[in-house]
Order: sequence, then C-alpha cells, then structure tokens
Amino acid sequence: MKIQIINGPNLNLLGKRETSVYGSESFETFLETLKKRFPAVELEYYQSNVEGELVNKLHDVGFSYDGIIINAGAYTHTSVAIHDAIGGIKTPVVEVHISNVYAREEFRHKSLITSKCAGMLTGFGLEGYALAMHYLIQKSEGKSQ
Ligand code: DQA
Repeated sequence: MKIQIINGPNLNLLGKRETSVYGSESFETFLETLKKRFPAVELEYYQSNVEGELVNKLHDVGFSYDGIIINAGAYTHTSVAIHDAIGGIKTPVVEVHISNVYAREEFRHKSLITSKCAGMLTGFGLEGYALAMHYLIQKSEGKSQ
C-alpha cells in the first residue's frame, strides 16, 4: 500500500524551529524510524512552503494512493485552495498537527481543511503521523470506516 505524507510551510525547519513547541528531531530522521515501523507501506514524503505546490501534490497522488497524511502548517488556518483540493480527490486524508493547536493562539483553533479530512490528530508530537498511519492501514484493509 502507498501512503503520502505532505508537510506544508516551515515544517522543513523541524528540529531547528521553536523546539519548545515542535521538538528537536528533524522530519528526515523521524521518517527513517517511521519507515522501519511500517515496512509493508510504501511511504513517500513531500514538503513545500508554497500553497499551490501542496495543491498540485494532492492532485498527483489523490486518485491512486491509499492514504495521505497532511500537516498543512499555517495554511491549515487560511487555505480554501487546500480545502477544495482535499474535497476534490478520492484518497482518504488525515490532518496532523504536531502541537495542540487548541492550546495555542486563537487563530490556530480554526482549520479550513478538517471538514474534508477523515479526521484530525493534534498535540501528539511527531507520533501523530504514526497514529495516522495506523488509521489509514486499517482503513485500506477495510477494518475501519
Ligand atoms: C502546525 C500548527 C500550525 O498552527 C502552525 O502554523 C504550523 C505547525 C503543527 O504541526 O502543530 O506550522 O501545523
């Protein structure tokens, strides 16, 4: 099975950026451990700071992959284009946030994309990506909704 992880703006700085909020591990290091934990999954990773490129990637994989995990970063709170892209594809999408967005500034409490996603995980650190993987694997095996 194939799962695509898509990270949005500033997430290329993980490990260096606001480490008290996002931790000190880079996504590349975390990805290696994630691949080892899920050896049966073909796991692809894409990161962009550009909104339209995130939309393009959703279109590219959204009719053939078994699952998408997206952390749209700040675009979560602003992007009608990403909302529409998720709504327009067939592959199930799980929204992930490393920090607990509800424990932070009020402008982070609103997500424009959750309504088009299967669900949302927030506040579990990088482990949120692994939890999303579990859900998508169960779903592709027909064991969950
Ligand atoms: C984030 C939360 C967003 O509000 C923020 O803009 C990010 C990261 C998270 O993973 O906690 O860039 O999506």
